[in-house]
Amino acid sequence: MEWSWKLGQVPEISFRDSTKHDIYVPINAALEDKNILEEWNIGDESIDSVVCMQALCSVSDPTAAAKQIYRLLKPGGQLLFWEHTASQDWVTRQVQGIWNLFWKPLIGNCHLRRNIEQAVMEGGDWKIIELGHDNIEPWQMMPRVWGHFVKG
Ligand SMILES: C[S@@+](CC[C@H](N)C(=O)[O-])C[C@H]1O[C@@H](n2cnc3c(N)ncnc32)[C@H](O)[C@@H]1O
Repeated sequence: MEWSWKLGQVPEISFRDSTKHDIYVPINAALEDKNILEEWNIGDESIDSVVCMQALCSVSDPTAAAKQIYRLLKPGGQLLFWEHTASQDWVTRQVQGIWNLFWKPLIGNCHLRRNIEQAVMEGGDWKIIELGHDNIEPWQMMPRVWGHFVKG
């Protein structure tokens, strides 16, 4: 799969291997594009799995996005995510806030200091299969949070 994106826009997805077109359909839409999603029969409780990698940093409201993902998943459907998040270290969080002033407009609304774990948790009544943190040393500007959650 190939994708390209311009700052602040939804990525364009396509397949390098044309035989994959018989199996997969890339749908270029934002999470909030209800009409486009409904054209593809993607409505509430219609999806088995969502993979979310470095997207919740850039959506306008990560909690609303997590709630939308939760709505779209079937009961028992799974969310796999890998995102960068706010540092657990107070000083580094302040530096992230300052760096954000330049980073966010340059990298298409990418926020360095969001609490992604909290946003995903608030998305719904998840069963947590795995939840992990990487790069949590105090000086890390992009500590990671990742998880495997199932819709309860
Ligand atoms: C920092 S970029 C990361 C791109 C890519 N996921 C990566 O890991 O390299 C954030 C991505 O979130 C996408 N995005 C922003 N708002 C979105 C939305 N409402 N729905 C879906 N994707 C969105 C942007 O188009 C952009 O591709």
